[in-house]
Amino acid sequence: MEFTKTNNKKRTGPVLFSEYCAGDAVKKAINLSREDILFEIKNSGLKGRGGAGFPTATKWMLTAAANADEKFIVCNADEGEPGTFKDRVLLLEYPELVFDGMVVAGYTIGAKTGIVYLRGEYEYMLESLENHLTVMRNDHLLGKNILGREGIDFEIRIRLGSGAYVCGEETALIESLEGCRGEPRNRPPYPVNTGYLDYPTVVNNVETLSSVSHIIVKNGEWFKKNGTNKSTGSKLFSVSGDCGKPGVYELPWGTKIDVLLEIVEAKNTKAVQVGGASGVCIPKSQFDRTLAYEDAATGGSIIIFNESRDMLKILKNFMEFFVEESCGQCTPCRVGNIKLMEGITKIENGNYTFAYINTLKELGKTMQVASKCGLGQSSPNAFISILENFKEEIFNTNGKGISYGKA
Ligand SMILES: Cc1cc2nc3c(=O)[nH]c(=O)nc-3n(C[C@H](O)[C@H](O)[C@H](O)COP(=O)(O)O)c2cc1C
Ligand code: SF4
Repeated sequence: MEFTKTNNKKRTGPVLFSEYCAGDAVKKAINLSREDILFEIKNSGLKGRGGAGFPTATKWMLTAAANADEKFIVCNADEGEPGTFKDRVLLLEYPELVFDGMVVAGYTIGAKTGIVYLRGEYEYMLESLENHLTVMRNDHLLGKNILGREGIDFEIRIRLGSGAYVCGEETALIESLEGCRGEPRNRPPYPVNTGYLDYPTVVNNVETLSSVSHIIVKNGEWFKKNGTNKSTGSKLFSVSGDCGKPGVYELPWGTKIDVLLEIVEAKNTKAVQVGGASGVCIPKSQFDRTLAYEDAATGGSIIIFNESRDMLKILKNFMEFFVEESCGQCTPCRVGNIKLMEGITKIENGNYTFAYINTLKELGKTMQVASKCGLGQSSPNAFISILENFKEEIFNTNGKGISYGKA
Protein backbone atom coordinates (compact mmCIF):
# COMPACT_ATOMS: atom_id res chain seq x y z
CA MET A 1 0.00 0.00 0.00
CA GLU A 2 1.30 3.47 -0.82
CA PHE A 3 2.24 5.47 2.25
CA THR A 4 0.49 8.83 2.42
CA LYS A 5 0.10 11.15 5.36
CA THR A 6 -3.66 11.44 5.39
CA ASN A 7 -3.92 11.60 9.12
CA ASN A 8 -6.49 14.33 9.49
CA LYS A 9 -4.56 15.99 12.26
CA LYS A 10 -6.81 18.93 13.05
CA ARG A 11 -5.37 20.70 16.06
CA THR A 12 -1.85 20.74 17.37
CA GLY A 13 -1.41 21.54 21.05
CA PRO A 14 1.08 22.66 23.64
CA VAL A 15 2.41 19.24 24.67
CA LEU A 16 2.35 16.25 22.33
CA PHE A 17 2.50 18.12 19.07
CA SER A 18 4.91 20.74 20.37
CA GLU A 19 8.41 21.08 18.96
CA TYR A 20 10.71 18.11 19.51
CA CYS A 21 14.07 17.21 18.02
CA ALA A 22 14.62 13.48 17.38
CA GLY A 23 16.96 11.91 19.94
CA ASP A 24 16.82 14.78 22.45
CA ALA A 25 15.06 12.77 25.19
CA VAL A 26 17.65 9.97 24.88
CA LYS A 27 20.57 12.43 24.94
CA LYS A 28 19.24 14.06 28.08
CA ALA A 29 18.10 10.88 29.83
CA ILE A 30 21.44 9.07 29.71
CA ASN A 31 22.99 11.95 31.61
CA LEU A 32 20.36 11.72 34.33
CA SER A 33 20.16 9.14 37.09
CA ARG A 34 17.33 6.63 36.94
CA GLU A 35 15.95 8.14 40.14
CA ASP A 36 15.88 11.62 38.55
CA ILE A 37 13.94 10.29 35.57
CA LEU A 38 11.45 8.52 37.81
CA PHE A 39 11.08 11.73 39.79
CA GLU A 40 10.26 13.76 36.66
CA ILE A 41 7.73 11.21 35.42
CA LYS A 42 6.11 11.03 38.84
CA ASN A 43 6.10 14.80 39.22
CA SER A 44 4.46 15.16 35.79
CA GLY A 45 1.47 13.14 37.01
CA LEU A 46 1.48 11.23 33.69
CA LYS A 47 -1.14 8.48 33.57
CA GLY A 48 -1.42 5.78 30.92
CA ARG A 49 -3.09 6.97 27.70
CA GLY A 50 -4.24 3.48 26.68
CA GLY A 51 -7.50 3.85 28.60
CA ALA A 52 -6.97 2.56 32.11
CA GLY A 53 -5.07 5.64 33.34
CA PHE A 54 -2.57 3.80 35.54
CA PRO A 55 0.21 6.14 36.81
CA THR A 56 3.22 5.62 34.54
CA ALA A 57 5.82 6.32 37.26
CA THR A 58 4.34 3.62 39.51
CA LYS A 59 4.45 1.06 36.70
CA TRP A 60 8.07 1.93 35.94
CA MET A 61 9.10 1.93 39.61
CA LEU A 62 7.60 -1.52 40.15
CA THR A 63 9.41 -2.92 37.11
CA ALA A 64 12.66 -1.16 38.02
CA ALA A 65 12.47 -2.70 41.50
CA ALA A 66 11.82 -6.22 40.21
CA ASN A 67 14.79 -8.54 40.49
CA ALA A 68 15.40 -10.31 37.16
CA ASP A 69 18.10 -11.04 34.56
CA GLU A 70 16.06 -9.46 31.81
CA LYS A 71 13.29 -6.88 31.51
CA PHE A 72 11.22 -5.68 28.57
CA ILE A 73 9.50 -2.56 27.30
CA VAL A 74 6.42 -3.20 25.18
CA CYS A 75 4.79 -0.40 23.24
CA ASN A 76 1.11 -1.12 22.83
CA ALA A 77 0.34 0.07 19.30
CA ASP A 78 -2.65 -2.21 18.80
CA GLU A 79 -5.09 0.74 18.69
CA GLY A 80 -8.19 -1.41 18.39
CA GLU A 81 -10.81 0.58 20.27
CA PRO A 82 -13.55 1.55 17.79
CA GLY A 83 -13.20 5.25 16.96
CA THR A 84 -9.56 5.55 18.01
CA PHE A 85 -6.96 6.61 15.47
CA LYS A 86 -4.64 8.98 17.35
CA ASP A 87 -1.75 6.53 17.83
CA ARG A 88 -1.65 6.25 14.04
CA VAL A 89 -0.77 9.96 13.84
CA LEU A 90 2.05 9.56 16.35
CA LEU A 91 3.46 6.48 14.64
CA LEU A 92 3.33 8.01 11.19
CA GLU A 93 4.31 11.59 11.89
CA TYR A 94 6.20 11.44 15.20
CA PRO A 95 7.87 8.00 15.45
CA GLU A 96 10.87 9.68 17.14
CA LEU A 97 8.67 10.55 20.13
CA VAL A 98 7.50 6.95 20.51
CA PHE A 99 10.89 5.27 20.02
CA ASP A 100 12.83 7.78 22.14
CA GLY A 101 10.26 7.24 24.91
CA MET A 102 10.93 3.50 24.69
CA VAL A 103 14.69 4.00 24.97
CA VAL A 104 14.20 6.26 28.01
CA ALA A 105 11.89 3.67 29.59
CA GLY A 106 14.42 0.89 28.94
CA TYR A 107 17.29 2.88 30.43
CA THR A 108 15.19 3.74 33.50
CA ILE A 109 13.95 0.26 34.37
CA GLY A 110 17.02 -1.64 33.16
CA ALA A 111 15.58 -3.25 30.02
CA LYS A 112 17.66 -3.90 26.92
CA THR A 113 14.83 -4.83 24.56
CA GLY A 114 11.75 -2.99 23.39
CA ILE A 115 8.98 -4.51 21.31
CA VAL A 116 6.33 -2.57 19.41
CA TYR A 117 3.10 -4.54 19.07
CA LEU A 118 1.68 -2.96 15.94
CA ARG A 119 -1.96 -3.29 14.94
CA GLY A 120 -2.22 -5.70 12.00
CA GLU A 121 -4.10 -3.12 9.94
CA TYR A 122 -1.14 -0.75 10.35
CA GLU A 123 1.16 -3.05 8.39
CA TYR A 124 1.51 -0.30 5.80
CA MET A 125 3.53 1.70 8.37
CA LEU A 126 6.07 -1.05 8.91
CA GLU A 127 8.52 0.16 6.28
CA SER A 128 8.59 3.77 7.51
CA LEU A 129 8.93 2.64 11.13
CA GLU A 130 11.78 0.24 10.30
CA ASN A 131 13.48 3.04 8.34
CA HIS A 132 13.27 5.25 11.38
CA LEU A 133 14.83 2.54 13.54
CA THR A 134 17.69 2.27 11.04
CA VAL A 135 18.28 6.01 11.28
CA MET A 136 18.35 5.71 15.07
CA ARG A 137 20.88 2.88 14.88
CA ASN A 138 23.08 4.96 12.55
CA ASP A 139 22.86 7.85 15.01
CA HIS A 140 23.82 5.53 17.90
CA LEU A 141 20.48 6.13 19.60
CA LEU A 142 19.81 2.39 19.49
CA GLY A 143 22.01 -0.68 19.80
CA LYS A 144 25.08 -1.32 21.94
CA ASN A 145 26.70 1.49 23.93
CA ILE A 146 24.12 4.14 23.08
CA LEU A 147 25.75 7.50 22.28
CA GLY A 148 29.08 5.93 23.21
CA ARG A 149 28.07 5.15 26.77
CA GLU A 150 29.47 1.77 27.81
CA GLY A 151 26.81 -0.66 28.99
CA ILE A 152 23.78 1.35 27.84
CA ASP A 153 22.24 -1.01 25.30
CA PHE A 154 18.74 -1.01 23.87
CA GLU A 155 17.20 -2.52 20.73
CA ILE A 156 13.66 -2.23 19.36
CA ARG A 157 11.81 -4.72 17.19
CA ILE A 158 8.33 -4.56 15.73
CA ARG A 159 5.74 -7.36 15.78
CA LEU A 160 2.44 -7.28 13.93
CA GLY A 161 -0.89 -8.15 15.53
CA SER A 162 -3.55 -10.03 13.60
CA GLY A 163 -6.68 -7.99 14.16
CA ALA A 164 -8.09 -9.27 17.46
CA TYR A 165 -9.37 -6.43 19.67
CA VAL A 166 -8.63 -8.39 22.85
CA CYS A 167 -4.92 -8.50 21.95
CA GLY A 168 -4.77 -4.82 22.95
CA GLU A 169 -5.30 -5.98 26.54
CA GLU A 170 -1.78 -6.10 27.92
CA THR A 171 -1.66 -9.72 29.06
CA ALA A 172 -3.37 -11.03 25.89
CA LEU A 173 -0.87 -8.94 23.95
CA ILE A 174 2.00 -10.62 25.80
CA GLU A 175 0.51 -14.06 25.08
CA SER A 176 0.27 -13.11 21.42
CA LEU A 177 3.90 -11.90 21.41
CA GLU A 178 4.92 -15.26 22.83
CA GLY A 179 3.23 -16.97 19.89
CA CYS A 180 0.24 -18.21 21.88
CA ARG A 181 -3.49 -17.53 21.47
CA GLY A 182 -4.17 -13.92 22.41
CA GLU A 183 -6.11 -14.55 25.59
CA PRO A 184 -5.90 -12.45 28.77
CA ARG A 185 -4.03 -13.95 31.72
CA ASN A 186 -5.17 -14.11 35.31
CA ARG A 187 -3.85 -11.16 37.29
CA PRO A 188 -1.97 -11.15 39.63
CA PRO A 189 0.80 -11.70 38.77
CA TYR A 190 1.00 -8.44 36.83
CA PRO A 191 3.30 -7.85 33.85
CA VAL A 192 5.50 -5.55 35.98
CA ASN A 193 6.67 -8.75 37.67
CA THR A 194 5.70 -11.56 35.30
CA GLY A 195 5.29 -10.28 31.77
CA TYR A 196 6.84 -11.21 28.42
CA LEU A 197 8.49 -14.66 28.75
CA ASP A 198 7.72 -14.26 32.48
CA TYR A 199 10.20 -11.38 32.80
CA PRO A 200 9.25 -8.01 34.33
CA THR A 201 7.66 -5.97 31.56
CA VAL A 202 6.38 -2.43 31.14
CA VAL A 203 3.48 -2.21 28.70
CA ASN A 204 2.78 1.38 27.70
CA ASN A 205 0.58 2.99 25.11
CA VAL A 206 2.08 4.87 22.13
CA GLU A 207 0.84 8.23 23.43
CA THR A 208 2.15 7.57 26.96
CA LEU A 209 5.65 6.91 25.62
CA SER A 210 5.44 9.98 23.38
CA SER A 211 4.52 12.09 26.42
CA VAL A 212 7.58 10.71 28.23
CA SER A 213 9.92 12.10 25.54
CA HIS A 214 8.54 15.62 26.03
CA ILE A 215 8.62 15.35 29.83
CA ILE A 216 12.29 14.36 29.80
CA VAL A 217 13.29 17.20 27.49
CA LYS A 218 11.22 19.82 29.33
CA ASN A 219 10.18 18.59 32.80
CA GLY A 220 7.31 17.35 34.94
CA GLU A 221 6.33 20.87 36.08
CA TRP A 222 6.02 22.02 32.47
CA PHE A 223 3.85 19.00 31.62
CA LYS A 224 1.38 19.51 34.41
CA LYS A 225 0.75 23.16 33.57
CA ASN A 226 -1.93 21.78 31.25
CA GLY A 227 -4.88 19.70 32.36
CA THR A 228 -6.45 19.25 35.80
CA ASN A 229 -4.96 18.19 39.15
CA LYS A 230 -5.87 14.55 38.59
CA SER A 231 -5.45 14.50 34.81
CA THR A 232 -2.28 16.34 33.94
CA GLY A 233 -1.06 17.31 30.49
CA SER A 234 -2.95 17.20 27.25
CA LYS A 235 -4.63 14.40 25.38
CA LEU A 236 -5.08 13.34 21.79
CA PHE A 237 -8.72 12.86 20.90
CA SER A 238 -9.84 10.92 17.84
CA VAL A 239 -13.05 12.64 16.83
CA SER A 240 -15.44 10.97 14.40
CA GLY A 241 -19.12 10.89 13.55
CA ASP A 242 -21.52 13.78 12.96
CA CYS A 243 -19.34 16.87 12.91
CA GLY A 244 -17.88 19.28 10.39
CA LYS A 245 -14.24 18.54 11.20
CA PRO A 246 -13.50 14.96 12.23
CA GLY A 247 -9.86 14.19 13.00
CA VAL A 248 -7.20 14.10 15.70
CA TYR A 249 -7.11 16.98 18.20
CA GLU A 250 -4.71 17.74 21.00
CA LEU A 251 -6.63 19.37 23.83
CA PRO A 252 -5.86 19.80 27.51
CA TRP A 253 -7.47 17.31 29.87
CA GLY A 254 -10.42 19.02 31.52
CA THR A 255 -11.89 20.31 28.23
CA LYS A 256 -15.67 20.26 28.45
CA ILE A 257 -17.59 18.12 25.99
CA ASP A 258 -19.61 21.10 24.72
CA VAL A 259 -16.39 23.04 24.07
CA LEU A 260 -15.01 20.11 22.06
CA LEU A 261 -18.28 19.91 20.09
CA GLU A 262 -17.92 23.56 19.16
CA ILE A 263 -14.29 23.15 18.09
CA VAL A 264 -15.12 20.20 15.81
CA GLU A 265 -18.19 21.99 14.41
CA ALA A 266 -20.77 19.49 15.55
CA LYS A 267 -24.40 20.55 15.08
CA ASN A 268 -27.65 19.18 16.58
CA THR A 269 -25.71 16.71 18.66
CA LYS A 270 -27.82 14.19 20.53
CA ALA A 271 -25.15 12.02 22.13
CA VAL A 272 -21.41 11.62 22.46
CA GLN A 273 -19.83 8.21 22.96
CA VAL A 274 -16.77 8.87 25.10
CA GLY A 275 -14.15 6.10 25.18
CA GLY A 276 -15.22 4.09 22.14
CA ALA A 277 -17.49 1.07 22.17
CA SER A 278 -16.32 0.22 25.68
CA GLY A 279 -16.97 3.74 26.94
CA VAL A 280 -20.17 5.49 27.97
CA CYS A 281 -22.79 7.33 25.95
CA ILE A 282 -23.34 10.86 27.21
CA PRO A 283 -26.62 12.69 26.47
CA LYS A 284 -27.05 16.41 25.72
CA SER A 285 -28.05 17.19 29.31
CA GLN A 286 -24.53 16.21 30.41
CA PHE A 287 -22.46 18.00 27.77
CA ASP A 288 -21.01 20.26 30.48
CA ARG A 289 -19.03 17.28 31.78
CA THR A 290 -15.26 17.38 31.45
CA LEU A 291 -13.00 14.99 29.59
CA ALA A 292 -10.73 13.79 32.39
CA TYR A 293 -9.95 10.62 34.33
CA GLU A 294 -12.03 11.94 37.21
CA ASP A 295 -15.14 12.58 35.07
CA ALA A 296 -15.65 11.41 31.48
CA ALA A 297 -12.52 9.26 31.05
CA THR A 298 -11.35 8.16 27.63
CA GLY A 299 -8.41 6.61 25.86
CA GLY A 300 -9.20 9.17 23.15
CA SER A 301 -12.19 7.96 21.17
CA ILE A 302 -15.00 10.51 20.76
CA ILE A 303 -17.90 9.48 18.50
CA ILE A 304 -20.57 12.11 17.85
CA PHE A 305 -24.21 11.33 17.03
CA ASN A 306 -26.69 13.93 15.84
CA GLU A 307 -30.49 14.00 16.17
CA SER A 308 -30.98 11.84 13.09
CA ARG A 309 -29.36 8.78 14.67
CA ASP A 310 -31.21 5.78 16.07
CA MET A 311 -29.68 5.04 19.49
CA LEU A 312 -30.86 1.42 19.52
CA LYS A 313 -29.10 0.77 16.20
CA ILE A 314 -25.94 2.34 17.63
CA LEU A 315 -26.15 0.12 20.69
CA LYS A 316 -26.72 -2.94 18.51
CA ASN A 317 -23.62 -2.10 16.51
CA PHE A 318 -21.48 -1.89 19.66
CA MET A 319 -22.86 -5.13 21.10
CA GLU A 320 -22.30 -7.01 17.82
CA PHE A 321 -18.68 -5.93 18.11
CA PHE A 322 -18.33 -7.33 21.64
CA VAL A 323 -20.06 -10.62 20.81
CA GLU A 324 -17.57 -11.01 17.97
CA GLU A 325 -14.48 -9.93 19.93
CA SER A 326 -15.03 -11.72 23.27
CA CYS A 327 -12.29 -14.34 23.53
CA GLY A 328 -14.75 -16.68 25.21
CA GLN A 329 -12.49 -17.61 28.08
CA CYS A 330 -14.81 -16.55 30.91
CA THR A 331 -18.56 -17.06 31.24
CA PRO A 332 -19.76 -13.57 32.26
CA CYS A 333 -18.36 -12.08 29.04
CA ARG A 334 -18.89 -15.02 26.66
CA VAL A 335 -22.53 -15.57 27.65
CA GLY A 336 -23.32 -12.10 28.98
CA ASN A 337 -22.67 -10.24 25.72
CA ILE A 338 -24.90 -12.70 23.84
CA LYS A 339 -27.68 -12.21 26.41
CA LEU A 340 -27.44 -8.42 26.10
CA MET A 341 -27.56 -8.80 22.32
CA GLU A 342 -30.70 -10.96 22.59
CA GLY A 343 -32.25 -8.20 24.70
CA ILE A 344 -31.58 -5.65 21.95
CA THR A 345 -33.26 -7.88 19.37
CA LYS A 346 -36.27 -8.23 21.67
CA ILE A 347 -36.49 -4.46 22.11
CA GLU A 348 -36.32 -4.08 18.31
CA ASN A 349 -39.23 -6.49 17.95
CA GLY A 350 -41.17 -4.91 20.80
CA ASN A 351 -41.10 -8.25 22.57
CA TYR A 352 -39.97 -7.44 26.10
CA THR A 353 -41.06 -6.52 29.58
CA PHE A 354 -39.38 -3.84 31.64
CA ALA A 355 -38.69 -6.44 34.31
CA TYR A 356 -36.66 -8.33 31.68
CA ILE A 357 -34.80 -5.15 30.66
CA ASN A 358 -33.97 -4.42 34.29
CA THR A 359 -32.67 -7.98 34.71
CA LEU A 360 -30.39 -7.41 31.71
CA LYS A 361 -29.08 -4.20 33.24
CA GLU A 362 -28.31 -6.13 36.42
CA LEU A 363 -26.57 -8.78 34.30
CA GLY A 364 -24.49 -5.96 32.77
CA LYS A 365 -23.47 -4.80 36.25
CA THR A 366 -22.48 -8.37 37.16
CA MET A 367 -20.36 -8.58 34.00
CA GLN A 368 -18.60 -5.36 35.02
CA VAL A 369 -17.36 -6.97 38.24
CA ALA A 370 -17.16 -10.67 37.33
CA SER A 371 -15.45 -10.65 33.92
CA LYS A 372 -11.81 -11.62 33.78
CA CYS A 373 -10.50 -8.72 31.73
CA GLY A 374 -11.36 -5.18 30.72
CA LEU A 375 -13.26 -6.31 27.63
CA GLY A 376 -16.09 -7.98 29.55
CA GLN A 377 -15.80 -5.46 32.37
CA SER A 378 -16.52 -2.58 30.01
CA SER A 379 -18.68 -4.10 27.25
CA PRO A 380 -21.94 -3.49 29.21
CA ASN A 381 -21.14 0.25 29.61
CA ALA A 382 -22.81 1.21 26.34
CA PHE A 383 -25.81 -1.06 27.03
CA ILE A 384 -26.40 0.43 30.46
CA SER A 385 -25.74 4.06 29.55
CA ILE A 386 -27.74 4.07 26.29
CA LEU A 387 -30.80 2.33 27.80
CA GLU A 388 -30.57 4.64 30.82
CA ASN A 389 -30.00 7.94 29.01
CA PHE A 390 -32.18 7.38 25.94
CA LYS A 391 -35.07 5.38 27.39
CA GLU A 392 -37.75 7.75 26.04
CA GLU A 393 -36.51 7.32 22.48
CA ILE A 394 -35.85 3.59 22.70
CA PHE A 395 -38.94 2.46 24.56
CA ASN A 396 -41.37 4.90 22.91
CA THR A 397 -40.46 3.81 19.42
CA ASN A 398 -40.37 0.17 20.42
CA GLY A 399 -43.22 0.38 22.90
CA LYS A 400 -45.00 -2.81 21.95
CA GLY A 401 -43.66 -4.49 25.08
CA ILE A 402 -45.74 -5.42 28.06
CA SER A 403 -44.81 -2.93 30.74
CA TYR A 404 -44.13 -4.44 34.13
CA GLY A 405 -42.42 -1.79 36.24
CA LYS A 406 -40.10 0.94 35.05
CA ALA A 407 -37.14 0.68 32.69
C1 LIG B 1 -9.97 -5.26 25.38
C2 LIG B 1 -8.88 -4.28 25.62
C3 LIG B 1 -8.23 -3.68 24.55
C4 LIG B 1 -7.21 -2.77 24.78
N1 LIG B 1 -6.62 -2.19 23.70
C5 LIG B 1 -5.59 -1.33 23.90
C6 LIG B 1 -4.93 -0.74 22.80
O1 LIG B 1 -5.27 -0.99 21.63
N2 LIG B 1 -3.91 0.11 23.04
C7 LIG B 1 -3.50 0.40 24.34
O2 LIG B 1 -2.56 1.15 24.53
N3 LIG B 1 -4.12 -0.12 25.39
C8 LIG B 1 -5.15 -0.99 25.21
N4 LIG B 1 -5.74 -1.56 26.30
C9 LIG B 1 -5.20 -1.25 27.64
C10 LIG B 1 -4.00 -2.13 27.96
O3 LIG B 1 -4.44 -3.33 28.58
C11 LIG B 1 -3.03 -1.46 28.93
O4 LIG B 1 -3.74 -0.95 30.02
C12 LIG B 1 -2.24 -0.31 28.30
O5 LIG B 1 -1.60 -0.70 27.14
C13 LIG B 1 -1.22 0.18 29.31
O6 LIG B 1 -0.52 1.27 28.80
P1 LIG B 1 -0.67 2.72 29.47
O7 LIG B 1 -0.46 2.54 30.94
O8 LIG B 1 0.41 3.52 28.84
O9 LIG B 1 -2.03 3.21 29.14
C14 LIG B 1 -6.81 -2.46 26.11
C15 LIG B 1 -7.46 -3.06 27.18
C16 LIG B 1 -8.49 -3.93 26.95
C17 LIG B 1 -9.18 -4.55 28.13
S1 SF4 C 1 -13.72 -10.81 29.76
FE1 SF4 C 1 -14.16 -11.57 27.69
S2 SF4 C 1 -12.35 -11.11 26.52
FE2 SF4 C 1 -11.79 -10.97 28.70
S3 SF4 C 1 -11.07 -13.01 29.26
FE3 SF4 C 1 -13.25 -13.01 29.67
S4 SF4 C 1 -14.16 -13.80 27.75
FE4 SF4 C 1 -12.08 -13.19 27.27
